[in-house]
Amino acid sequence: MGAPWSSCAFASLLFCLLSAAITQRVKVLDEVTGYLGQEVTLPCTFVPTGNEIKVSQVTWMQEAAGRKQNVAVFHPDHEPSYPLETERGRLRFKTQTLEDATLIIGPLRMADEGTYFCEFATYPSGNEGGITNLVVLAKPTNTAEAQEVKASNLELPVAVCISDRGKPPARITWQSGLNGNATVSEVTNADGTVTVTSYYRMVPTKEANGQRITCIVEHKTQPQPEALPVVLSILYPPEVTIEGYDDNWYLSRNEAMLKCTAKGNPPPTEFIWSTANGPLPKTVEVQGDILLVRNVDASVNTTFRCQATNRVGQVSTDQPIYVRDKPNMEGAGTTGGIIGGLIAAIVAVAVVATGILICRQQQKNRMDREEDDQEGPPAYKPPPPCQLSDETEPEAPRYHELPTLEEREAAADAGPSMEDEYLDQINPIYDALSFAATEEEAAMAPMSTDKAFIMSRAMYV
Ligand SMILES: *[C@@H]1O[C@H](CO)[C@@H](O)[C@H](O)[C@H]1NC(C)=O
Ligand SMILES: *[C@@H]1O[C@H](CO)[C@@H](O)[C@H](O)[C@H]1NC(C)=O
Repeated sequence: MGAPWSSCAFASLLFCLLSAAITQRVKVLDEVTGYLGQEVTLPCTFVPTGNEIKVSQVTWMQEAAGRKQNVAVFHPDHEPSYPLETERGRLRFKTQTLEDATLIIGPLRMADEGTYFCEFATYPSGNEGGITNLVVLAKPTNTAEAQEVKASNLELPVAVCISDRGKPPARITWQSGLNGNATVSEVTNADGTVTVTSYYRMVPTKEANGQRITCIVEHKTQPQPEALPVVLSILYPPEVTIEGYDDNWYLSRNEAMLKCTAKGNPPPTEFIWSTANGPLPKTVEVQGDILLVRNVDASVNTTFRCQATNRVGQVSTDQPIYVRDKPNMEGAGTTGGIIGGLIAAIVAVAVVATGILICRQQQKNRMDREEDDQEGPPAYKPPPPCQLSDETEPEAPRYHELPTLEEREAAADAGPSMEDEYLDQINPIYDALSFAATEEEAAMAPMSTDKAFIMSRAMYV
């Protein structure tokens, strides 16, 4: 071939490009991207600059691995020829004309990637052509999953992320709050695609079980990185606890109960109850994780054992039981104290609420009274401050800050004071309080001194 292309070794490619630029009669795209298994179009047209130029034949050549081969030839006197094709119809000219040599390839194979030369045999100027680079991409299939491993002290792969059959190879990273490392490997497949595998490795602790990490796959064919979440599954033997022993099992008590709970991966489902000395006493009833004692007797004065099993192991734990002759009063005392505290809190809230209500009522009464007194146009008068509900300065005296009996007697000698009025106003509260106090006094020793103080006030007023 005496064409410019045949002398166009790679070293003189630049010269060829320049000559193509000068003639400008062959129009091609510099680069075309296609996807594996799909169809791609390589445009190539000849734009004659005058009637005297005659085109006699069109040829497409592919350069792969340094060799140039004819892949498609069209001559108007013959059928189009595709010298290398074994699969009919995979390569075809878009039109069978000498002006438009556009080539369609599909389904694309990885081997189709490379440099293509579109060449027109013309007279009188000789062969003219253009160069197109065909890039074949393959969209990978991305998956990620946990690797089930047993908890241990050794670093192990706990998750794997695979980007299968991509071209070019995908980039895999991990997003994780855990202290692990990724190891990546690549395998080139027969079709030229690359499978990338990334293992997330860490020391598999049982705390890592159920934790979420994310595999991020970036690939040229994906507009966005793909995020694949993985929930780790670290297998560990049951962790068994027995709950429900209240240290108050006494003879002839009804309904005592123990509950066996076990964490683990996989979750334990089977529980076996026994005692440290062997089989269970006849008087207990087992309902799965529950051990029920309908009537406490000396036979349950023993150590109960619960064994839980999962795929990884079998673990048991013990609960010693001490059967008393009489109920344990210490525990009851504590409970009583809590209940007493609760009642005290409720009473305190009730007292404050009552005080506010009464104050409001009195405020209203006083305003009504003032309105009745008014004759002629009413002049603005601010309502009297509601002393009980008003928390801001100046603070109204609190009960415990009120003057003592002696102080008040001294004050009474000096004549009626503001405080007398104040106590008159809140008189009903004292009534309410004294009622509450008598009711609660017996039950609550710590509160009784306060109440007594308030009561003495009430009696005084
Ligand atoms: C991760 O790998 C590097 C090198 O392989 C190592 O030095 C480092 O300790 C590893 N980190 C963890 C958390 O395993
Ligand atoms: C339970 O056993 C303890 C000793 O382990 C013993 O002191 C106690 O009296 C026993 N209780 C009954 C009710 O038998």
